[in-house]
Amino acid sequence: GNRYIGLIDKFKTVLPVSDSTRLISLGEGNTPLIQLQNIPALIGKNVDIYVKYEGLNPTGSFKDRGMTMAVTKAVEEGSKAIICASTGNTSASAAAYAARAGIKAFVLIPEGKIALGKLAQAMIHGAEIIQIKGNFDHGMQLVKEVAEHAPVTIVNSINPYRLQGQKTASYEIVEALGKAPDYHCLPVGNAGNITAHWIGYSEMAQPAGEHVTDSCAFCEGGCEYDRTQYATAKRPVMVGYQAAGAAPFLKGEMIDEPETVATAIRIGRPQSWDQAWAAQKESGGWFDLLTDEEILATQKLLTEKEGIFCEPASAASVGGAIRDIKNGKIPEGSTVVCTLTGHGLKDPDTAIAQCAVNSNAIEASLDAVKAAILDKL
Ligand code: F0G
Repeated sequence: GNRYIGLIDKFKTVLPVSDSTRLISLGEGNTPLIQLQNIPALIGKNVDIYVKYEGLNPTGSFKDRGMTMAVTKAVEEGSKAIICASTGNTSASAAAYAARAGIKAFVLIPEGKIALGKLAQAMIHGAEIIQIKGNFDHGMQLVKEVAEHAPVTIVNSINPYRLQGQKTASYEIVEALGKAPDYHCLPVGNAGNITAHWIGYSEMAQPAGEHVTDSCAFCEGGCEYDRTQYATAKRPVMVGYQAAGAAPFLKGEMIDEPETVATAIRIGRPQSWDQAWAAQKESGGWFDLLTDEEILATQKLLTEKEGIFCEPASAASVGGAIRDIKNGKIPEGSTVVCTLTGHGLKDPDTAIAQCAVNSNAIEASLDAVKAAILDKL
């Protein structure tokens, strides 16, 4: 049959796998590209805004795209354990894919700074959770060091297979639109995802059948990727949005004490620093920042006006895009894609804290319920 079984299977002609590779997959990818219907009118601009709803991946974030590749390759190479530092989503994804593969996952997370849903996922999948009295950047440094002394495969986005898996999101977008968008907006933390999208778009923009030489780290010139069906004429302008308290790309240098309500992107020392700058420069794009208040307001706007629930970090892409559409940096008539990196259910505490709670229970009677409804109409 033609049951969808995951992104490696679908995109195997453009991924570093062979026919004999055992695929570690949970059916990730193939996420909807949803056109916003109400927000463009609200801001009074004629633009096509699409959101790539990555929260609908198996563990609720885009990390599954990279994790299926990283764990597939780790298993192929004989690894019995994986390790990552994480602000939450990578650890949730690593835990699930390790369980699927039957190997061990170690996850280093910043104590008290990961959203509840993500912690629940890492725990229930049986990962070895190592909480550290430090932030993501400390965890990342420790993971790199410990991997030199123990037989564990790093599955953070410094693992090149992660980016190969994540590039498939841009392939799906081109397939869905029939062209590349004019602008692609993403939240930026460790900067792996913006890098991965740029790899994908750049591959597709090369004439079909031509070898990928500079963006494929695996083929050393002998790459046999067949991109014939994914050729596109142009690449989008790449725009990266950060949280104001965790915005090294705006500062132009690494920062030591990142802080933001969007804990997913609470990162001061992005690992894909050079690659993200290259994507920005080569695409003619830019970086900008949003305050925590702007991020949360956008999260609420998407839930209330479009019915789409993403986690705070994800809303940075739409919040930034709306601002840049309003100020004309993104001109009318453009096709804009914003990546919604993670599901809103990841962080129930922040969502509930945003809402006025009606905590007064009423009598369980028809009269009381009728009164309560009439009161609100
Ligand atoms: N949005 C969400 C929901 C994330 O979880 C992350 C990163 C990003 C955006 C930023 O993507 O790092 O590729 O620039 N989360 C990582 C983690 C760091 O550990 O889950 P990036």
